[in-house]
Amino acid sequence: MTDHDDIITSVRSGILPAHIYNDADLFAAERESVFAKNWLFLAHESEVPDRGDYVVRQQLGDSFIVSRDESGEIRVMFNMCLHRGMQVCRAEIGNTSHFRCPYHGWTYKNDGALVGVPFFKEAYGGEDELRRSDHSLLPAPAMEIVNGLVFVCLDPDAPPFSSRLGEFRDYLDFYTRPGPDGVEVRGPQRWRLPANWKIGAENFAGDTYHTPHTHLSVSEIGLMSDAKGGKRKGGTMYFAGGGGGATFPLAPGDLPSRLGVIGYTDEMIKRRAETWPVTISALIGKDGQIPSAATIFPNLSFLHLWARVSESQIVPFTTMRLWQPVSEQETEVVSWFVVDKAADEEFKRASYKAYQMCFGPSGMFEQDDMENWSSITRVAGGTMARRLQLNNRMGLRTDDSTIAEPLTNFSGPGAAYGGFGEFNQRRWFDLWCRDLESGPIDTKKTTSYPTSEGDDREHER
Ligand code: FES
Ligand SMILES: [Fe+2]
Repeated sequence: MTDHDDIITSVRSGILPAHIYNDADLFAAERESVFAKNWLFLAHESEVPDRGDYVVRQQLGDSFIVSRDESGEIRVMFNMCLHRGMQVCRAEIGNTSHFRCPYHGWTYKNDGALVGVPFFKEAYGGEDELRRSDHSLLPAPAMEIVNGLVFVCLDPDAPPFSSRLGEFRDYLDFYTRPGPDGVEVRGPQRWRLPANWKIGAENFAGDTYHTPHTHLSVSEIGLMSDAKGGKRKGGTMYFAGGGGGATFPLAPGDLPSRLGVIGYTDEMIKRRAETWPVTISALIGKDGQIPSAATIFPNLSFLHLWARVSESQIVPFTTMRLWQPVSEQETEVVSWFVVDKAADEEFKRASYKAYQMCFGPSGMFEQDDMENWSSITRVAGGTMARRLQLNNRMGLRTDDSTIAEPLTNFSGPGAAYGGFGEFNQRRWFDLWCRDLESGPIDTKKTTSYPTSEGDDREHER
């Protein structure tokens, strides 16, 4: 039993109590039951290419330093001094061999080891009384790097990221492994959106239904002709393991010709064909479907599209974003431009331009979406919203059977449907219900996990 049993039962039946998009109690439960248990994205390793590079990233209330230490290894450390709790690193990005706490000056190496304590002997009696090796910055309880993406989990006993991700891994390769060198990211752009974090996450997981209506002006001006309703209807929605997304239909052809039409060069196409999993190559080359937006539960989304950046040039782009909750009614969007590391500078520049025209705070798609999502959140906070049930049942009959069968000729991993439907939003919410139902992890328990020194010390959490 949880305090949210009624909500969970309703959501599982495809009916969303409207207030879930602006509810302080529910947000507190999400913090402990969803965000404290799932794998969360922090940074891409291309953001810290050299020894000493670091970025500081948030997930909910927790601040982390992601650094590349002197041996070249990536470390993720909780950004809180073991003396009296000051944030050790206040800059968002930089390069340093040491972090010196601004409060009293304890100094940590960029692998987290405490190496300097002012007046060590006089104040503490030296090493005999205060073992500095017991006072390293707290490492993330669990960390995994996949395709250069750094994920952490606040639950040291959580299943490994790979098992949580499951079959979605192939789609992750589509977005972030276009060749053996992988991708590099630029940004991130960050902005605050007065909307609940779930709305963006579930939209990117498969809301193809909004595109022809919300983004009508984008297709009218010719920036993205494929935003038209007929095109989206010919696409699919798939869910695979820990994530789901949608695909766009492409014109007849094979893998090289289809990728060529949307702006990839022959060399880039060849590299992709040699690197992508066969499922992805078949999805595009055989089925004529190319992944567009997707979400890995809970709050990391991807998007691949193409835009007309000039009269004669169509260019593809990829973006990745976090829906970083601030409160039940505010989200910080953290949006990266993602590009094939081995692409030439001219392609990277043009692709960046396409991204900026479509997404980011001034992008046309983004502006359309933000207005909808902030408006939903505003009305979801009132009294009437506690009486309203939202319909999340598109694609289901009243007896819960599906209007259309899952596709049998879909080459990508996971189960897919054609046309329109809220299959993915329901799957996304199934994972959300699973976590709310199983409740919070015990943050009081003491668990051993490897420290930055690689030993198994006890850390009070
Ligand atoms: S709080 Fe960091 S040195 Fe005192
Ligand atoms: Fe949109």
